[in-house]
Amino acid sequence: MARKFIIDTDPGVDDAQAILMAHAHPDVDLLGLSVVSGNVGLSHTLTNACHLVDLMREPVPVFPGCERPLGPRGEDAAFVHGSDGFGDLSLPEPVARPEVEQAANALVRLINEHPGEITVVAIGPLTNIAVALLLDPQLPDKLDRLVVMGGAVTGKGNVSNISAEFNIYSDPEAAALVFEAFDQIDLVDWEATMAHSYSFKVLDAWLASGTDHAKLFDRVSQAIRKFVVSEHGERLMRAADALAMAVALEPQSIQASSQCAVDIELTGSLTRGQTVVDWDSRTSKQPQCRIVTAFDMDRFLHLNEQAFKPFRAS
Ligand code: BDR
Ligand code: CA
Repeated sequence: MARKFIIDTDPGVDDAQAILMAHAHPDVDLLGLSVVSGNVGLSHTLTNACHLVDLMREPVPVFPGCERPLGPRGEDAAFVHGSDGFGDLSLPEPVARPEVEQAANALVRLINEHPGEITVVAIGPLTNIAVALLLDPQLPDKLDRLVVMGGAVTGKGNVSNISAEFNIYSDPEAAALVFEAFDQIDLVDWEATMAHSYSFKVLDAWLASGTDHAKLFDRVSQAIRKFVVSEHGERLMRAADALAMAVALEPQSIQASSQCAVDIELTGSLTRGQTVVDWDSRTSKQPQCRIVTAFDMDRFLHLNEQAFKPFRAS
């Protein structure tokens, strides 16, 4: 039986990649995209999610979620993903339309309809998941798995608070609620992402498949590629959300991980949004995170490549 996935997302270039990976996987039944603001504002992330549904040619529901974090508004990542989150291509309006049902309500409903069966892959700020938890505090017991892309586990982050990572930093209060409530999270952080970078050449070889989704991804990813080259002088893709999706799709390809307690720093003037990891069990906190540090690179590349091939017949 196919595994049931809900992707909580703020598309975003690497979100798009992750969503296409899930769609391409023969063993996944994609129940919906719950959309949150993050990389850019909600109106754009919703539109981008609808573009992806058009590409997938399947009626995957798009649930509109929170347009601001629980706490103060932070930075967006328009300078990385483009001001519309999809490389500023002035794409025509998508045909797919968002549902009326709010993302947090949809998460609660779907998880209660399928107790113990759903994997949530959270690849944006954790606002929608936190609100769903406030609505239904028993949610962690009813999920099969929660996979989170977030954090920088030794403090090598990617936002202006240098020890924090974008998704957690965008809504630390939501992240704190989620990390407190769940007793098992598969965590894929920014540092693992860096360790699993791959070259533009590899990406270009996949995109040569010439499918509609490869063509669109080629265009959508140009802005982020320019950013990476100008900022880091490297022609490398850092596909954070794609790595989280690979971990969700193929946990058996995890090669190294550490089970540790992880807390979210909320108040540090320099460190707000940092993921603080108890590597040596020095606290009495339950080690709720499996921190993935190595994933089979061949399998990661394979799962990415599948995303750009012609889709299987549905
Ligand atoms: C995360 O932040 C976003 O910009 C990406 O989509 C990814 O989810 C990486 O820190
Ligand atoms: Ca994302």
